[in-house]
Amino acid sequence: MPANYDNSASFYDKLSRLVFGKALVNAQTWLLPLIPENAKVLIVGGGTGWILEEITKLHPGGLSITYIEISAKMMALSRKRNTGANQVEFINKAVEDAGLTADFDVVITPFLFDNFTEDTLPGVFQHIHQTLKPGGLWLNTDFQLTGKWWQYLMLKSMLLFFKVLCGVPAWRLPDVGKQFSKFGYDVTEEKRFFGDFVVTRLYKITH
Ligand SMILES: C[S@@+](CC[C@H](N)C(=O)[O-])C[C@H]1O[C@@H](n2cnc3c(N)ncnc32)[C@H](O)[C@@H]1O
Repeated sequence: MPANYDNSASFYDKLSRLVFGKALVNAQTWLLPLIPENAKVLIVGGGTGWILEEITKLHPGGLSITYIEISAKMMALSRKRNTGANQVEFINKAVEDAGLTADFDVVITPFLFDNFTEDTLPGVFQHIHQTLKPGGLWLNTDFQLTGKWWQYLMLKSMLLFFKVLCGVPAWRLPDVGKQFSKFGYDVTEEKRFFGDFVVTRLYKITH
């Protein structure tokens, strides 16, 4: 059973700001200036859709955005966002079932992969990988553990909270880096946030 964030949609952003301040927003907006003009952009698991407004501040128009969100309530909130003169296609499905084309210039996966286990990650990863054009940019933000005890405690508390509320199946973070390596991606930019607990990386296939 995939996670269902419907139960958390109404308070998700408030809770995130309460616990992390602006860190999760800063982490997801850090690489947005790299989106080229008139790009075709795929966003998977955008939550309440605030990222659409941040993208629109940088590109008031010209983008063609495909926004995929499996939660109907998250999607309803996302549809209300100001997207300026950008063209946005909202798809309320699991990304695996969305039947996407393989011509995206930019793919954005913000805190998507912590919803998957070591077993389910490869399938969804390959699916998203196939949508990116050769030379495209993949902007990924995730939690990570760098050996600090409080990170471990926070991660376990969050996974337990979202397991009870939304049925998130994971008990630990799956190895996302391994998937990027397997498909030949290199990290070309990286920044850490919130005491290294959050990391945003730009992945490209450079060879
Ligand atoms: C941890 S939340 C992050 C939300 C948002 N990116 C943020 O940081 O505020 C993960 C989001 O991914 C969505 N999601 C999970 N699995 C998905 C899938 N297979 N396809 C599309 N969306 C998915 C969930 O509904 C949820 O809104």
